Amino acid sequence: MEVKVFKNAVEASEFVANELALQVKNKLDSTLGVATGRTMDAIYDRFVNQAKREQLDLSKTRAFAVDEYLGLKKGSPNSYEAYLNLHLFDHLNFNRDNLHVPDVSMDNIDLIGSDYEKRISQAGGVDLQLLGIGLNGHIGLNEPGSAIDSRTRVVALTGSTMNSNKVLFKNEGMPLTAVTIGIGTILEASRIFLVATGHTKAEIVQKVVNGDVNSKIPATALKDHKNSFLILDQEAAHLI
Ligand code: GLP
Repeated sequence: MEVKVFKNAVEASEFVANELALQVKNKLDSTLGVATGRTMDAIYDRFVNQAKREQLDLSKTRAFAVDEYLGLKKGSPNSYEAYLNLHLFDHLNFNRDNLHVPDVSMDNIDLIGSDYEKRISQAGGVDLQLLGIGLNGHIGLNEPGSAIDSRTRVVALTGSTMNSNKVLFKNEGMPLTAVTIGIGTILEASRIFLVATGHTKAEIVQKVVNGDVNSKIPATALKDHKNSFLILDQEAAHLI
């Protein structure tokens, strides 16, 4: 895993947005793995601006959300699907048929994971996977203890994740479970960008950078990937 440190979150976000744009320019029918969370706001904002400025054609580009909550009201503005529509999908000329989120409306929740995995593999796998990191080291919603070869599945959220994300919920309580792509699924992507900005991420970033691969800190799994990058600003990097 290559570590790149930028002066601030703006510069880190611009770098990642530009990598996204280059990926699409080089391969119009790229498959992107798209994360959610506050870190992604600035990245998508810059990517949308750049794509508009450069008149990037996204009509053939596919995107797969990393995770989705279970048990929200239908059409909930708190869902990750709503997040991706708001920050990314609605602004560019994506073809809706190419945009994927785990189908949390399925009656049998045990089949959500295999359905999603099938869609990812039919798309030929992910070319560029974007990820944020939780304060406990989660990637997607692979919480500590997740197996390195885990696949897309239903997971229970930890107290740390609930505490960190509950402030984002409006008019609705935060669910206790979600669907996430697995660590094994993530590791099959051709290229991975894990992004952490701000001082709150400094402690977990230090543990990822200085520790060995271990399931207690799921993000360490990316250290074994040949083409993975940890993108930081100086605040997130200050303990390494
Ligand atoms: C949520 C998302 C994760 C993301 C994490 C980081 O838990 N499900 O995929 O990595 O948030 O969030 P933030 O960028 O808001 O710190």
